[in-house]
Amino acid sequence: MTAKKLFLGLLIAAAALGFGTLHSSANSNTKKAVTFSKDVAPIFFKNCADCHRANDIAPMSLMSYKEARPWARSIKEKVVTREMPPWSPDPKYGEFANDHRLAQTDIDTIVAWVDGGAKEGNPKDLPALPAFTQGGWQIGKPDVVLSMEKDWVVEVNAPDNYINFWIPTNFKEDKWIQAAEIMPGNRKVVHHVIAFIQPAKMAEARMNAEKTGKRTSNNNQQASMMYWDGTLRRVKMDAPVVDNTCDNQAMARRAGGGGGEEQEGALLAGYAPGKGLDVWPVGTAKKVPAGSYIMFQMHYSAFRGGLLKPEIDRTKLGLIFAKEPPDKMIYTAGVVNATFKIPAGDGNHEVVACMTVPRDIELLTYMPHMHLRGKDMRYDVIYPDGKKETLLWVPKFSFNWQTMYYLKTPVKIPKGTKVIITAHFDNSTKNKYNPDPTKDVRWGDPTYDEMMIGWFDMLLDNPTKNMAAKTGGK
Ligand code: HEC
Repeated sequence: MTAKKLFLGLLIAAAALGFGTLHSSANSNTKKAVTFSKDVAPIFFKNCADCHRANDIAPMSLMSYKEARPWARSIKEKVVTREMPPWSPDPKYGEFANDHRLAQTDIDTIVAWVDGGAKEGNPKDLPALPAFTQGGWQIGKPDVVLSMEKDWVVEVNAPDNYINFWIPTNFKEDKWIQAAEIMPGNRKVVHHVIAFIQPAKMAEARMNAEKTGKRTSNNNQQASMMYWDGTLRRVKMDAPVVDNTCDNQAMARRAGGGGGEEQEGALLAGYAPGKGLDVWPVGTAKKVPAGSYIMFQMHYSAFRGGLLKPEIDRTKLGLIFAKEPPDKMIYTAGVVNATFKIPAGDGNHEVVACMTVPRDIELLTYMPHMHLRGKDMRYDVIYPDGKKETLLWVPKFSFNWQTMYYLKTPVKIPKGTKVIITAHFDNSTKNKYNPDPTKDVRWGDPTYDEMMIGWFDMLLDNPTKNMAAKTGGK
């Protein structure tokens, strides 16, 4: 390029820029001022309400002008840097239906609102508050609501607790669930909830064990690795260590630290701040066999380092039934490594777990699960033909929002594919959430221990439906 051409190019670029600026300022003079009621509230209600409402995980509500106004400056900063709304996966891999990232036009609107003095505008322009912020169900009116039968009280400065509650479904026949929503009774103390489907026999054995204080493991190998610390299950510090269980099947089998079906039953639904709802595509559903119990596994945690008064919780689960038996049933599986040990001070400790897929499946969701030292997690697959693909890459895992990533379209995985979950943990002083960088860390329920689970929802053919079709039955 000659000097003259370069100069010309710069001139044109400068003119374009100049023109752009002129053009937009002329534009904003003629455009009406951006207001909270008309322009900004719809964005907040849609993209921030999950967490920024009264008594939820975020430090403040943004559901009214009065509440949002003092935060205007900070809001501008957090949306421009895309720290808010939080969204952890690298967009290079996978397309997700619940991708909450703001459109650039929304960011521009928020910036214009703040720069224009964060005006309220006419309250008549306000859209309706999202129903769920008023205590309503997000999934719509449930066909059945299963509730904890008594209150649980979290005392001021209570330690972390895992408490199980069993609720009989009293279902007389098998039920197919289209949508499920866990509604925490008290979001200040309900850290997360998992609802498991347990056959009556399993549930009764577990309830009995709790009553007699004899908590047991169904799996002898696990029992030898684990111990009970109050209500919390933890791996013994001196249990055998395998950080990568992929080539060690014996260890992989011992690895079901939590969430294994034989231990807890099949997973029905989960709640964690910002996780999203368990609503499954029409034609797919989760099965709850007749007579089952639902076990709520409640993780209670004193909110933000302490409570001012004891807090009471009574959590419930709303279920919507499928209109007819589905073609495909949804099954949740976790690829787990529970035999790792993270050395004190280690800033980048790698832990790997694998699973070889026993039949053709379609993946619906991904949900990485770790605790406060969790740094990143990657889901990779190696197909039977040797081709490798990354399904999910979460480079900055956040314990605060354990999002479930809902694939826009299910991903087909043929039988024999190897799924590899790779996680890193930061047990150094650099990790500001680290409860104690001087301690070696193993698997355990409490947030000061660690976990390593790559959860999936997958679609399987519904054998009952197909059998009925084959025999011509209904
Ligand atoms: C998934 C939950 C979630 C969503 C959705 C979300 N936030 Fe947040 N937000 C949080 C949490 C939790 C914090 C506190 C962060 C911390 O303590 O590290 C926070 C912090 C903030 C802060 C900083 C507050 C401070 O102390 O300075 C701002 C500003 C903010 N959010 C704005 C927004 C806006 C605007 C939206 C929507 C466009 C949004 N957030 C969506 C969870 C969320």
